[in-house]
Amino acid sequence: MGMRTRAAVCREPGRPWEITELDLDDPQANEVRIRFEAAGLCHSDDHIQKGDARMRFPVVGGHEGAGVVEEVGPGVTRVAVGDHVVCSFIPACGSCRYCSTARQNLCDSGKNAATGEFPDGTFRFHQDGADFGGLCVLGTFSQHTVVSEFSCIPIPADIPFDVASLVGCGVPTGWGSAVHAAGVRAGQTVVIYGAGGVGSNAVQGARYAGAKHVVVVDPVEFKRDMAKVFGATHTFADARSAHEFVVETTWGELADHAIITVGVLHDQVIADALAVVGKAGQVTITAVGNGSIRTGASALIGYQRRVQGAIFGGCNPLHDVPRLLGLYRSGDLKLDELITRRYRLDQVNEGYQDMLDGKNVRGVIIHEH
Ligand SMILES: NC(=O)c1ccc[n+]([C@@H]2O[C@H](COP(=O)([O-])OP(=O)(O)OC[C@H]3O[C@@H](n4cnc5c(N)ncnc54)[C@H](O)[C@@H]3O)[C@@H](O)[C@H]2O)c1
Ligand SMILES: [Zn+2]
Ligand SMILES: [Zn+2]
Repeated sequence: MGMRTRAAVCREPGRPWEITELDLDDPQANEVRIRFEAAGLCHSDDHIQKGDARMRFPVVGGHEGAGVVEEVGPGVTRVAVGDHVVCSFIPACGSCRYCSTARQNLCDSGKNAATGEFPDGTFRFHQDGADFGGLCVLGTFSQHTVVSEFSCIPIPADIPFDVASLVGCGVPTGWGSAVHAAGVRAGQTVVIYGAGGVGSNAVQGARYAGAKHVVVVDPVEFKRDMAKVFGATHTFADARSAHEFVVETTWGELADHAIITVGVLHDQVIADALAVVGKAGQVTITAVGNGSIRTGASALIGYQRRVQGAIFGGCNPLHDVPRLLGLYRSGDLKLDELITRRYRLDQVNEGYQDMLDGKNVRGVIIHEH
């Protein structure tokens, strides 16, 4: 039977987001249809739209979303009709090698993120005979979307959808980059490059884990001001000033951790991060882009430095998403403050321009029904 849905799609790299009507199939076995209420504007969708990250086109944008389950296919057990859910941008099947060893961020069922294909090679969005994949097999820039039940994390019904949507990617990615991937410990010095939707949560995670110095580098004054709200102890407009501060404040021992959450990863920020960590220091790379690690191995060996890549901040979404919402409820995690502006779906390009212009910590689309 199926239904029609309004969605923001990108037909080829470099083309702006376009609002269009798509046909949406009914959920099949182990799939659910979600009515999205809110969708976050993560920088990763912009990488897809610009063509600097790999993706099959045409694509329905959006991989941060929260909404209500409105229909379930056969065999679904994780959620029921009426449940409020956050969509995890990496599904968690719960039983693959990685899920069953507490590394759900590496779940094998995440392998179609860049095609939007369901496991049998089919798609749920169509228009005039063409198949559209959802980003991360989600597509939260659609009013309605069919997703795998593995992508669904049930949440309490009293959590507002706008803040909940951000807990599908940006919040756990940033928080986890500090808490899980880096493993920040009490008393440490942490330098975070880039305080947008992801980096602001790395700041919160580092602070909550007990870092003594949470140093933020961001060229945008508004981001630096907001970083203080999220727990940054010191903020700088450029990497050199932050480096000088770290040298001085640690009596030359340098930082324990550098976490890279800039909008577009590039060589220089990796070099800056490697230089700012000292003995046994770690650089955690979360940002996406074409940056390369250009260093002689001796820079790693002598000081026993590590470079750690991080996807989804090393989180286990089935555990971390409800736990982070619990921290929000208790006042330990700031989520309302992350949302700078709200947009209608047809303002999605404006929302991304505001992100690129440094105006938003996070923009959120509020879907109309
Ligand atoms: N690895 C993952 O699992 C994962 C998940 C989500 C997002 N990401 C990536 O993380 C990055 C951050 O995403 P976001 O949504 O927070 O983006 P964003 O645009 O909201 O934030 C990026 C911030 O970096 C700042 N910045 C830009 N250049 C800088 C520089 N040279 N030094 C310091 N700061 C600089 C910007 O002013 C901005 O505040 C993106 O590359 C995104 O694709 C990765
Ligand atoms: Zn994201
Ligand atoms: Zn799995």
